[in-house]
Amino acid sequence: MSETIAKKTILSGIKPTGSLNLGGYLGAVKNWVALQEDYNCLYMLADLHALTIRIDPAVLRKNSMELFALYIACGIDPEKNLLFFQSHVPQHAELSWILNCYTMFGELNRMTQFKDKSAKNAENINAGLFTYPVLMAADILLYQSDLVPVGEDQRQHLELARDIATRYNGVYGDVFKLPEGYTPKVGARIMSLTNPTHKMSKSEEDENGTVNLLDNKDAIIRKFKRAVTDSETCVRHAEGKDGINNLMSIYSAVTGKSFEEIEKEFDGRGYGDFKLTVGESVAECLAPVQQKYNDLISDKAQLEAIYKRGAEQAGYMAMKTLRKVYKKVGLIPRA
Ligand code: TRP
Repeated sequence: MSETIAKKTILSGIKPTGSLNLGGYLGAVKNWVALQEDYNCLYMLADLHALTIRIDPAVLRKNSMELFALYIACGIDPEKNLLFFQSHVPQHAELSWILNCYTMFGELNRMTQFKDKSAKNAENINAGLFTYPVLMAADILLYQSDLVPVGEDQRQHLELARDIATRYNGVYGDVFKLPEGYTPKVGARIMSLTNPTHKMSKSEEDENGTVNLLDNKDAIIRKFKRAVTDSETCVRHAEGKDGINNLMSIYSAVTGKSFEEIEKEFDGRGYGDFKLTVGESVAECLAPVQQKYNDLISDKAQLEAIYKRGAEQAGYMAMKTLRKVYKKVGLIPRA
């Protein structure tokens, strides 16, 4: 990673709780690729966060390796970015404990994601789910991150990270940099194909609504053919046309065409035609990613070398912050 002092630090991460889908790709990972020249970027796999829900260990292992290889297959260059597993840098868990002591019960109790997730998992409202945002604050604050690209659903967690940092800094002086959210110039919010008022998500129950990055061409086209539209049969971006708006966003994100150009292209043509074209363009866009993924996933030694180096370098940066934090609160420095 090139070390230029003027470069700002960016950190983000994804939980390996499911397969990476088109929403995560077009909405996040694809944008990360564009940042690698201008920023110092750290991208982690939030595997510790994944444990807040019950997940089969074999599934977690498979998801984690798959997502790690996909980061690279999507174009995140391991020479230009730091790629690592959160669990390989123990400072995340260590800082998280300290920050727990500077986070108020009431603050965590107000987190909308905690409320949503508790409602959905009434049988497993564990303490990790409650303190999830504190671990996320540790992820961010450990690296003195300037910018954090996150979706709408994570904004409240980022705000809390700032509040925790402000509270800590208020007592001990300027230890943590206050992170800002980062919204990419061209960000796409991709919705479920079968339920276009809901985000395309890893936990989506209807698998026809979710296009996974490793789906084959037939599956991709089948899912697009079944995509929910409306009764108007006119390809135009307008209020109330959630299904078509979503397909237009996807098509625009993979081809670079504007909504206007898309409307012209499909003027007088039916939805069947449009859905097939979008499906084909998505399959075409994902083909090189899948090719690269297949090469990588069979080369365990190379992946291992990348995540080993990532954890070492991230750990070095993290240690600088953690040492300061421990010292400021009065812990005896390690001999
Ligand atoms: N909570 C984030 C999500 O579910 C993932 C995440 C964990 C994260 N740690 C982070 C994102 C730090 C940005 C920065 O999407």
